Amino acid sequence: MRIKIAPSILSADFSCLGKELKKVEAAGADMIHVDVMDGQFVPNITIGPVVIKDLKGSTKLPLDVHLMIENPEKLIDSFVKAGSDMITVHIETISKSKIKIQKSKLAARGIRFGISLNPGTPLSKIKNVLKFADFALIMTVNPGFAGQEFIESVLSKIKRLRSMFKGDISVDGGINERTAKIAVAAGANILVAGSYVFGSGNYRKAIRRLRCEG
Ligand code: DX5
Ligand code: ZN
Repeated sequence: MRIKIAPSILSADFSCLGKELKKVEAAGADMIHVDVMDGQFVPNITIGPVVIKDLKGSTKLPLDVHLMIENPEKLIDSFVKAGSDMITVHIETISKSKIKIQKSKLAARGIRFGISLNPGTPLSKIKNVLKFADFALIMTVNPGFAGQEFIESVLSKIKRLRSMFKGDISVDGGINERTAKIAVAAGANILVAGSYVFGSGNYRKAIRRLRCEG
């Protein structure tokens, strides 16, 4: 599977997001990861649909919108209208029946649907909804903030998931040159990286290194 790189704009310079998007696009990113936080599901607040709408006009890359919010089903339509190309909800925030409804709505509009789980949430929680997911997003830090340490014990969860799921597996949190390698070896093929990319002096080099291209 080709490794895809999704820089997380949480670590970008928010005073010039349009420029940052253009820079990572030119540097070889495959998609833009957008972290949406509500101050309820996670102890931080970031951005919502109005910002995403303007981001959409600043890049040709798909917008990978990661909803770290309670009751995501109430806001998914707004995120769709804003131009999301991929939408991820957390299994800790939504029931199976609602997942099923959202999957068919999103599929009808050509939007890829992802299901995420926190480091402390067992794989058994998503087993019976994997059939509705185009991809899974495995949190390798506790969600809420950029710049945290990769939690190595999540690797076995990625391995087990890979043995039962053929879709894309995205990993999010603490990804750098070293942890990218072990996450990919465990079965991940989309790498979300915030501080590693935006904290580097050279976005192109950082993205190449994550792909193990030197
Ligand atoms: C964490 C977010 C991540 C975060 C990753 O709650 O979901 O996407 O931006 O940042 P780094 O790569 O710095 O851990
Ligand atoms: Zn994220």
